[in-house]
Amino acid sequence: MIRLGCRSVADSALEEIRKETERFTSEGNRAPSLAVVLVGDDPASQTYVRKKAEAAASLGFMHFQYTLDGDSEEKDVLALVAELNARDDIDGILVQLPLPRHISEKKVIDAIAPEKDVDGFSPVNMGRLAIGGESFVPCTPKGIMETLRYYGIETAGKKAVVIGRSNIVGKPMALLLMQKGVDATVSVCHTKTPDLRAYTADADIIIVAAGRPGTIDASYVKDGAAVIDVGVNRVEDPSKEKGFRLVGDADYASFRDRDVMITPVPGGIGLMTVSMLMANTLEAARKRRGR
Ligand code: GUN
Repeated sequence: MIRLGCRSVADSALEEIRKETERFTSEGNRAPSLAVVLVGDDPASQTYVRKKAEAAASLGFMHFQYTLDGDSEEKDVLALVAELNARDDIDGILVQLPLPRHISEKKVIDAIAPEKDVDGFSPVNMGRLAIGGESFVPCTPKGIMETLRYYGIETAGKKAVVIGRSNIVGKPMALLLMQKGVDATVSVCHTKTPDLRAYTADADIIIVAAGRPGTIDASYVKDGAAVIDVGVNRVEDPSKEKGFRLVGDADYASFRDRDVMITPVPGGIGLMTVSMLMANTLEAARKRRGR
């Protein structure tokens, strides 16, 4: 097994963003600024939001955090988004998902101004990604592309299988892999795919973003393949201080004696998402100032 750790990938991306940010501010622009909205007190979301704040601070970005009560009404969230859209001192807006069930994620995402939508989830950005044109690319798929590039994993002419069809990962991932210049041949599998193994067995690149531990193990994968594990699942573990540990969607240990490249969890793609958010925030700041 070859472990594709992402710490060095994320650090080198952050270093590049840092340099570009210094150039940007030395030209007289104020630092990029990011607004993060969290609704409720989901512990995983709190962790993600904290990591985003830390990364923004470490790059000297301005950062505004809005934490709303879990029982806030949909109109309160929409009003906040409208206010952030209108504010000139905010370049990027991120509403942490999932939202409480009584709030429509679709309505909230639709409300974010496309030029501030650093998650790339709005219909305008997703549409541009699908048909070509400049768009904000969702952070996790963008981080996966960066990781493939960093490790020199060839995509052109290769068979890629994406497991999962979410708007956040699966769909944009498939669009990126099939883009001109990336040139993979892409299959998208999901919970209703009858024989997953029939697809993965022949794949050169497998992106597993199903949200379920043990979705694949080494028996699903051919020699020489690359497995990108996007899963972040909490499993109970009384031996840990917090009472749980994080595992991916792939059964990592099963790959130990195999000729397969695989991203670990933790220490893998999760590290990329935050740095790609910073890249998108810098891009938003630049575009809003026409450079
Ligand atoms: N929840 C899980 N992943 C993401 C993400 O990339 N962005 C937002 N806003 N929420 C998420």
